[in-house]
Amino acid sequence: MAQTITVIPGDGIGPEVTEATLEILRAAGADLEYDMQLGGVTALEQVKHPLPQETIESAERTRVLLKGPLTTPSGSGFRSINVELRKLFDLYANVRPVRTIVPGGRYEDIDLVLIRENTEGLYVGVEHYIGMHGDPKAAAESVMIITRFGAERISRYAFEYARKHGRKKVTLAHKANILKYTQGLFLDVAHEVAKDYPEIEWEDRIIDATAMQLVLDPYRFDVLVMENMFGDILSDLMAGLVGGLGFAPAGNIGEDAAMFEAVHGSAPDIAGKGIANPTSLLTSACLMLDHLGQVECATRIRDAIDSVVQAGEARTIDMGGRSTTREFTAALVNALG
Ligand code: NAI
Ligand code: MG
Repeated sequence: MAQTITVIPGDGIGPEVTEATLEILRAAGADLEYDMQLGGVTALEQVKHPLPQETIESAERTRVLLKGPLTTPSGSGFRSINVELRKLFDLYANVRPVRTIVPGGRYEDIDLVLIRENTEGLYVGVEHYIGMHGDPKAAAESVMIITRFGAERISRYAFEYARKHGRKKVTLAHKANILKYTQGLFLDVAHEVAKDYPEIEWEDRIIDATAMQLVLDPYRFDVLVMENMFGDILSDLMAGLVGGLGFAPAGNIGEDAAMFEAVHGSAPDIAGKGIANPTSLLTSACLMLDHLGQVECATRIRDAIDSVVQAGEARTIDMGGRSTTREFTAALVNALG
């Protein structure tokens, strides 16, 4: 029986890249059924809620989501739906692989994976204002929470990932020199977990130095693991090594549910123009296929992307080409056929 997945096309360019992705999944013969659901500003406009109950119920049934970008208003307004979904299903591991797709960029042959803790750290959202001298916003405070449980399961996930995918090295990036308690706990726990994986090389590095080394010599890294905010920042830096967010997939993995998403935003500047690059959502769908055991299908899609892009047969504008989303999609469907 085909696996049913919940699909949230999302906002801005979301529907365009989702349509392209589903067309390619069908052409590749993915054994999937699609339960289309609303989310984000689109949902707010249509059913007056950014994360409708029907969408949550669908995700509870299928336990697998494919999600386009969602517009999140900064400052005031509703909380990030991405964060809500991660919390709801305890999707603790954010998996962000980056791989060179378009040759001739800043670096060739990049192949790195960042594993980001997705539920703790500063992003728990425990923050408040402190009033003083009649100013209700004289100061503001955010709390960073690291638990032994959270640090242990993400460290283990990173080493298990390395083992399963034949990766040689895991690097923990941290700031235990300054944040001796929170970051120190993370480092201590990761150090213990590393002992269970003697065949995998292990190192820990200070986060700022890691950022510099990633730019100077990315080839010295393989799998990287870190807490939430550091992972947020460095995963975008790593996407930059391979040409930007248009190419980078993401998986959010929990014990019994998983969500795969485009890492870029809703790109309001190009929405509706038919020129968005669907590669981020499409390669996220490949991670989903891997996760569902449809590895062969995922590999066929990745090979089709490589052959179409490397031959320069079709490239979207952000890849330095002139193809529309539809032309790029058609070229991929053709390469699969
Ligand atoms: P963005 O990623 O939407 O756009 C940044 C730049 O990259 C723009 O010039 C855009 O045209 C380009 N771009 C992004 N994706 C592209 C694609 N697939 N093909 C071609 N070009 C692409 O970031 P921005 O403008 O900061 O955010 C817009 C909205 O998206 C905001 O409301 C933000 O909160 C939301 N957002 C949502 C995310 C998610 O749902 N995972 C992630 C990041 C931002
Ligand atoms: Mg981010």
